[in-house]
Amino acid sequence: MTENVQILDHPVIKHKISILRDINTGSNEFRSIIKEISIILAYEATKDLDLEEYEIQTPITKTTGYKISGKKLGIVPILRAGLGMVDGVLEVLPAAKIGHIGMYRDEETLMPVEYYSKLPNDVEKRDIIVVDPMLATGGSACDAIENLKKKGCKEIKLLSIIAAPEGIEKLREEHPDVKIIVAQLDDGLNENSYIVPGLGDAGDRLFGTK
Ligand code: PRP
Ligand code: URA
Repeated sequence: MTENVQILDHPVIKHKISILRDINTGSNEFRSIIKEISIILAYEATKDLDLEEYEIQTPITKTTGYKISGKKLGIVPILRAGLGMVDGVLEVLPAAKIGHIGMYRDEETLMPVEYYSKLPNDVEKRDIIVVDPMLATGGSACDAIENLKKKGCKEIKLLSIIAAPEGIEKLREEHPDVKIIVAQLDDGLNENSYIVPGLGDAGDRLFGTK
């Protein structure tokens, strides 16, 4: 796809996303699969972390070991549905600090409305991974990233489970510096700006609110 956009193309992901899409999949299974895919996305997002060498002794010999150099990282879920991805990303990056940005889409205007923001004090010094399972029009992600940039964040990545081409396009236009990693690219949006075929409302499916 275009520069700075990575779509995971993997049979295991396709298998798991099909279960997420299924209207008969309950919240418990839905949550575990969101977590599993988030772990894979987090590995992809951390491929470029710097390593430091150090010497280790194996039972056989001395050799060079590697550790991730002390980069400060932050995970920022967009509430609510982004919360479902945090535990998966934390499996890969247990020392990361977590900020929260609350956004909902106004059902009439479909525009994102920010209702909450609480970020680490030193957020501007951290590389940030924004997580939200759905990138539909891209409005919520663009606003959240704008908010982070205003706070001084420079290195930002976005992880999503399913994206519509429209959302990727908007992100590319407004934030071309932000790397986007998504597990699945879908066909587009319907008249209510839901992703097609999608999986419905990710927040409701995660938390059983519908
Ligand atoms: C969903 C989703 C994204 C947003 C995507 O949240 O989690 O944040 O919609 O749509 P967009 O790309 O068109 O902005 P929603 O507004 O349903 O809130 P919720 O997570 O609290 O259910
Ligand atoms: N938000 C969702 O949860 N699902 C969509 O398909 C679009 C926006």
